[in-house]
Amino acid sequence: MNLTPEQNQFRETIRDFVLKELEPIACGIEHGGEFPWKIVRKLGQMGIMGVNYPREYGGMGLDTVCYAIAVEEISRACGSTGITVAAHNSLAIAPIYLFGTEEQKRTYVPPLARGEKLGAFGLTEPEAGSDAGGTRTTAVRDGDSWVINGSKCFITNASVAETYVITARSSDAPGAHGISSFILEKGMKGLNVGKKENKMGLRGSDTAELFFENLRIPAENLLGKEGEGFKEFMVTLDGGRISIGAMALGIAQGALDKAIPRAKERIQFGRPIGTFQAVQWKLADMAVEVEAARQLIYHAARLKDAGQRYTRESAMAKLYASEAASFVTHQAIQIWGGRGYMEDHPLERYYRDARLCEIGEGTSEIQRLVIARQLLR
Ligand code: CAA
Repeated sequence: MNLTPEQNQFRETIRDFVLKELEPIACGIEHGGEFPWKIVRKLGQMGIMGVNYPREYGGMGLDTVCYAIAVEEISRACGSTGITVAAHNSLAIAPIYLFGTEEQKRTYVPPLARGEKLGAFGLTEPEAGSDAGGTRTTAVRDGDSWVINGSKCFITNASVAETYVITARSSDAPGAHGISSFILEKGMKGLNVGKKENKMGLRGSDTAELFFENLRIPAENLLGKEGEGFKEFMVTLDGGRISIGAMALGIAQGALDKAIPRAKERIQFGRPIGTFQAVQWKLADMAVEVEAARQLIYHAARLKDAGQRYTRESAMAKLYASEAASFVTHQAIQIWGGRGYMEDHPLERYYRDARLCEIGEGTSEIQRLVIARQLLR
């Protein structure tokens, strides 16, 4: 895969940790529906919660390819932990790091990057899903404060986070141009978290609503430029889509890992099912999908590291990898047959977890729209 020795070494370190510490408890995280605090704390100590941020801001100072590798390897065992890391790292830390003042960066990034605090990103609202510019939450300037009213939904890490970045409509300027972004902190009066959502998959990850009721925040909690919040969040999502792609890739790789030994060991009609062409072709197609997804994700990550525009490539990577994950997990269950359909088998979890990747951080339809707009510009 043309990785540098450092990137290969980094993968081995993560893989080793995941096999020893995460894989054995991944089913428990899902079925207990409990937030994986213990693992998240350990990942924080390893530097993974801020893997691609500079050391001076508490990160590991590694590149985006390493970040993608981390999310991939974590998700290969546990999608819930994968999305927790991804949302924290590329949705919560990134906008502060990219658009914050030096003071905001020094205040908020290090505790997040070291994993001492978790972060969340509040964009989606009941009436603003794919149409993210349809934000109805408002921010009204009042002297040295902003007063925020409204709500956000389906927010990853909502009830476990201590730092939030959110969007709100701050002027009557049309569409996306009237939106600004803000930094919020747990405990602010008027910031309330709703109940944890009961999801189809990724049940160990935390997803909840946020409510803002006359939430008064200091004027300096404006993030970036007033009226530029929508664009800032779009840039953030360009990066986030690499990590959701990496999460989907990890899930797909994990499912393939489980299908191969089954094809070798399961005897039917007096021979291993992997000797039948029907099963061989499934495995071949699964492996092609996994490898193609990996190439697209690392390509987008490399463009990001090179400082080039990668909106189209991250959308391609996320689109391809998430659809590949649905395909590969489907086929892996097919190879396992009835056994793979049982609740105590990891594959039924992988199958459910994969589904979110086609929805979160922009549906497959939105990725196609983003790619097409880039082609037709
Ligand atoms: N980079 C920089 N600027 C961008 C940009 C990007 N990637 N995308 C758009 N912009 C700019 C445009 O250039 C435009 O600027 P000007 O008006 O100055 O020319 C402005 O932003 C508005 O852009 P559009 O006209 O393209 O906006 P739109 O209303 O048509 O919407 C969209 C575009 C791509 C559909 C966008 O709404 C979108 O991405 N929707 C999906 C939202 C999404 O992904 N939500 C995920 C929520 S997070 C989540 O799921 C987290 C989780 O935990 C799983």
